[in-house]
Amino acid sequence: MSAYPPELEPFEALMRRGRPASPTRACPLGVCDGSGFLVDEATNTARDCTCRRGRIAASRAAALEGRIPKRYQGISFDRPPVLGMPETIVSEVRRYVRNLDARLREGRGLWLTGDVGTGKTSLAMLVSKAAIDSGHSVAIYSLPRLLNLIRDEVGGENSLLDLLDRLSSVDLLHIDDLGAQHTTPWRLEQLYSIVDARYQARRAIVATTNLMPAELAEQMGRRILTTVSEGEAGQTSQERKVVSDDSSEVVGKRIVSRLVEMCGDPLPLYGEDKRREFRARRVQSSDHID
Ligand SMILES: Nc1ncnc2c1ncn2[C@@H]1O[C@H](COP(=O)(O)OP(=O)(O)OP(=O)(O)O)[C@@H](O)[C@H]1O
Ligand SMILES: [Mg+2]
Ligand SMILES: [Zn+2]
Repeated sequence: MSAYPPELEPFEALMRRGRPASPTRACPLGVCDGSGFLVDEATNTARDCTCRRGRIAASRAAALEGRIPKRYQGISFDRPPVLGMPETIVSEVRRYVRNLDARLREGRGLWLTGDVGTGKTSLAMLVSKAAIDSGHSVAIYSLPRLLNLIRDEVGGENSLLDLLDRLSSVDLLHIDDLGAQHTTPWRLEQLYSIVDARYQARRAIVATTNLMPAELAEQMGRRILTTVSEGEAGQTSQERKVVSDDSSEVVGKRIVSRLVEMCGDPLPLYGEDKRREFRARRVQSSDHID
């Protein structure tokens, strides 16, 4: 089933191969010069070629398409750091990747929870990389970036609906750092609508978080309240405090409950922060040189 009307099929196929659309790509209909415009020399006017809609859809899709961040591009099961990670967890991820097509078809996801710097994002990237390599459409976002993107689309004509639609329809949505920041009730609602749409349509999510499911729901229900007060001399002061918000907590619980059903129990990764170990080793070796 395609998320696009039939005339845009070739562009979706392009997007699935993960290739960004080039603005000078030949006209698929053989009508325009590849610019997406038809120029009438006599009147010196231009109108849209039929291919232009497809071009716009393709460049939007390319912008949304998940790219593995540079740091994780060389990630592999056969190399460090994955080789050094707990085998019980790594083998669960390996099993998921082996059955990737079936998992994505049934909308079964995966999530990883645990301490900072223990390899959660690295393992999740292995899943996204496998999905991209086998031709699936993937969107990769950290939650803060995803929420900013949603905020930025507000006011754009249909663009928020468009964005939510695309986030709901990619084969795999990878959300990194769930629960990493406080958000507004409105943005939490948007996140809920994405997760719920994927839940209804049986589309998979891969997620990482530092929190256990119950904590995550509670965290999502908290937000920052800023109060501005005026002093006697007319000066204003701002006070920011974290408050819990009952209706947001319900939304948080709804999100987490769907994730548990879609992804099962989170795979736990606990231990030392490997980034700090890495830094400590570097400091030690420079001590030697000095
Ligand atoms: N078991 C490990 N052995 C060696 N290096 C590791 C191990 N786990 C993680 N690393 C390294 O530690 C760094 C952090 O890994 P990663 O980003 O996957 O952690 P994370 O759990 O997602 O952290 P955060 O909670 O901060 O997002 C990376 O450079 C990674 O290569
Ligand atoms: Mg991470
Ligand atoms: Zn054209």
